[in-house]
Amino acid sequence: MIPESGKTESIWMGTFDVPKFSPLDKDTSCDVCVIGAGITGLTSAYMLLRSGKSVIVVDDGNIAGGESSRTTAHITNVIDDRYYHIENLHGEESARLAAESQTAGINLIEKIVTENNIECDFTRLSGYLIFKPDERSGVLEMEYEACQRAGINVKIASEPPHKKLGDYPCLEFPNQAEFHMLKYLCGLANAIVTAGGKIYTQTHIKKITGGNKPAAETKDKYKITAGDIIVATNSPVSDYVAIHTKQAAYRTYVIGASIPKDTVPHALYWDNEDPYHYIRLYKQQKNDILIVGGEDHKTGQDDNPEQRFRNLIKWTAERFPMAEHIEYKWSGQVLEPFDGLSFIGKDPENPEHVYIATGDSGMGITHASYAAILLDDMINGRENRWAEIYDPKRITLKAAPEFIKEGFNTAVQYIDIITPPEYADENEIPPGTGAVLNFGKDKSAVYKDINGKIYKFSAFCPHLKCIVEWNKTENTWDCPCHGSRFEATGKVINGPALADLKPVN
Ligand SMILES: Cc1cc2nc3c(=O)[nH]c(=O)nc-3n(C[C@H](O)[C@H](O)[C@H](O)COP(=O)(O)OP(=O)(O)OC[C@H]3O[C@@H](n4cnc5c(N)ncnc54)[C@H](O)[C@@H]3O)c2cc1C
Ligand code: FES
Repeated sequence: MIPESGKTESIWMGTFDVPKFSPLDKDTSCDVCVIGAGITGLTSAYMLLRSGKSVIVVDDGNIAGGESSRTTAHITNVIDDRYYHIENLHGEESARLAAESQTAGINLIEKIVTENNIECDFTRLSGYLIFKPDERSGVLEMEYEACQRAGINVKIASEPPHKKLGDYPCLEFPNQAEFHMLKYLCGLANAIVTAGGKIYTQTHIKKITGGNKPAAETKDKYKITAGDIIVATNSPVSDYVAIHTKQAAYRTYVIGASIPKDTVPHALYWDNEDPYHYIRLYKQQKNDILIVGGEDHKTGQDDNPEQRFRNLIKWTAERFPMAEHIEYKWSGQVLEPFDGLSFIGKDPENPEHVYIATGDSGMGITHASYAAILLDDMINGRENRWAEIYDPKRITLKAAPEFIKEGFNTAVQYIDIITPPEYADENEIPPGTGAVLNFGKDKSAVYKDINGKIYKFSAFCPHLKCIVEWNKTENTWDCPCHGSRFEATGKVINGPALADLKPVN
């Protein structure tokens, strides 16, 4: 599969091709229009078709071309912000409901795989959460007790099965899972089409209207009239401010190293270091691929992303000496909600018949699956006891310090308006690179392709006018404020921005 939201290639893209669908070429209507054909949109579409709705899915790329193709696909109910933290912020009952929904997410995936005979290497296995005892004394016990109160199946293991990750006790979570993301999503797309759903790709939605005549309008001015609209674009493009001030976009990095077969015990592993790491295997016929991720930083706020890969490679070599060579290097984006729980339900800025699912953190796979259950219930008027904890309108007073810290960080990004540029003019920009340049009082984002052709845009993000930054790893323009991203040639990739960068002379 050709990478879509950046130039790096994940292991899933390197080992599987997704089927092609056609663009929408006329006005149409349905019960539910789903915008975004990643795991969130496709799982929601599947559930709604099963409950008898007519469903149209649209995506401006191919299916699964967004963050879903860049995942590492740990399927887990182990919340990465920790259950004790969720309990502190939201209370014991909410932590229990969060655990219940996460577990239901894993079970739904297994059910979909079984019912539709999807060959996607779905495997149940244990996950191990490793805390360095000297750095975080008492945290293991605190998390163990919080997990038990939340109803999570957890044990204290004497050490992780891969001993070089720590020769001290860790938490073991039985019955987690993993799969090949693109094989799963391809199976899900087939199931949607078989159930009568329609999928259109290369179809960019430019305008979303709620109220009593919900509709989505494409860039080519075709209109999809629907009873309800689900905005499953990872970062909701229907919402301008409300949600984007309650979550922050982070880049995260992954390497895939070839290792001899069966030299690392087959499990999921996570540590609690700062920055933290997430590890799994992909079993192949002749060798295994060790997949190690981490080194997260806020989007658009790191000048040297290549160093992140070097850090990961060094960290991996120290703990996995059997790693032979690096076969994959890729990066992606996750959205971190300030209070640890995702946002699923009515769009606060568009509450009549427009729904969102965002704030997936590094747990977007289970998030997508319980979001699909919840949205199916909401659209069909059924009660769901998870609705309140995921309500996008919620304000979590105990998360105020995080809200203020992230708000301050966003405000500081506007200083880039007066930051001097790296290059004096476009002649200095090396081919295949982009840079923000000063033109009088204006700032332009200038990309020079490998043949020397220049593409010039206003450097002000169409969302709320932060200055975009050049991402050297992915050859994209990334916005440091709320995570909008654009191709080198200006086309919008990730919301909240809906429009492309504005070309300038
Ligand atoms: C490196 C990495 C590792 C991860 N590891 C894990 C993990 O181990 N476990 C886990 O649970 N989660 C993990 N995640 C998170 C998880 O993969 C994502 O949260 C999840 O795949 C997001 O799915 P999505 O459907 O919400 O978004 P996406 O897959 O991004 O789909 C959104 C779709 O919307 C489309 N779109 C956007 N705007 C428009 C528009 N205006 N019109 C039409 N279409 C539009 C895009 O083209 C895209 O296809 C990881 C993420 C990354 C980046
Ligand atoms: S994403 Fe909000 S200003 Fe760019």
